[in-house]
Amino acid sequence: SVNEIAAAMEKTAKISIRVNPSVNPKTHPKIATGLKESKFGIHIESGQAFDAYKLAQKLENLETVGIHSHIGSQILETDSFKDAAEKVCEFVLKLNDEGIKLKFINLGGGLGISYTGEDIISPSELADAVIPAIENLNKNLDNDSGIELWLEPGRRIVGSAGIFITRVLAVKETPYKKFVNVDSGFTALIRPAMYDAYHRVVVINKLDEPSCETYTIAGNLCESGDIFARDRKLPEVERGDLIGILDTGAYGFAMASNYNSRVRPCEVLIRENGEIDLIRKREHYDDLLMHQFVPEDLKE
Ligand SMILES: Cc1ncc(COP(=O)(O)O)c(C=O)c1O
Repeated sequence: SVNEIAAAMEKTAKISIRVNPSVNPKTHPKIATGLKESKFGIHIESGQAFDAYKLAQKLENLETVGIHSHIGSQILETDSFKDAAEKVCEFVLKLNDEGIKLKFINLGGGLGISYTGEDIISPSELADAVIPAIENLNKNLDNDSGIELWLEPGRRIVGSAGIFITRVLAVKETPYKKFVNVDSGFTALIRPAMYDAYHRVVVINKLDEPSCETYTIAGNLCESGDIFARDRKLPEVERGDLIGILDTGAYGFAMASNYNSRVRPCEVLIRENGEIDLIRKREHYDDLLMHQFVPEDLKE
């Protein structure tokens, strides 16, 4: 346990506990993490979180300094943040009354971005939703400097900054659909296959041409679910065109894999002044084999 490791090192470990506030953010079920049925965190309402803090208080090599909750991702309304903040603050006050004094509340990430042009909430709207609960708590705590509010947004910082670019290998017309087959698949961008996520798609070398045809953009993996975008109106697409899949800076490369022995793509930074830097090399076949070994007796 952390306590045992800290004891062996003759140190005191500062810890914070991830709690589950039982809040339902109106987002995709696969990225809602603070629901009462969720696997994440220790539940406040069942009393288990309270028991965990009491246990930590008794252990000699632990110092409980904070509390953490992260209710989900791609959240587009403030009510669930407010709900989580209120529940966590009420719990922190209960801990305070038991002599467990925390220094910070970390409310996680979750601020959504606009994938389809939908309304999003600004950081200041998020602040307006959660700060009243923190201020109210601070009035009731016997902590002169007040408890700190921490946030850890991810998607909102990098999501819209990334474009995933893939080249058209073929345009295939079936009796039912026109497919644009590209030279990558969900190994490079899994959000559409995993969450049915919608990403805007453009033909990078035909930005000024009118959209005239409806295409489904298909990846190159052996899975029917390997579809980047369905039924999109685009300019006429031809072999060699570059398809840009927008808003892929978050949960794009970070979720990439080598399934189907696919190598992961390079990443390129484009600066405001147009300068371009390679910031991650494209993988090669040798990279796939790098960590594999054939036992001596199975070699020829
Ligand atoms: C604990 C925690 N904090 C913050 C984040 C970032 O979330 P988002 O990208 O929605 O801001 C995540 C994402 O999974 C997370 O698990």
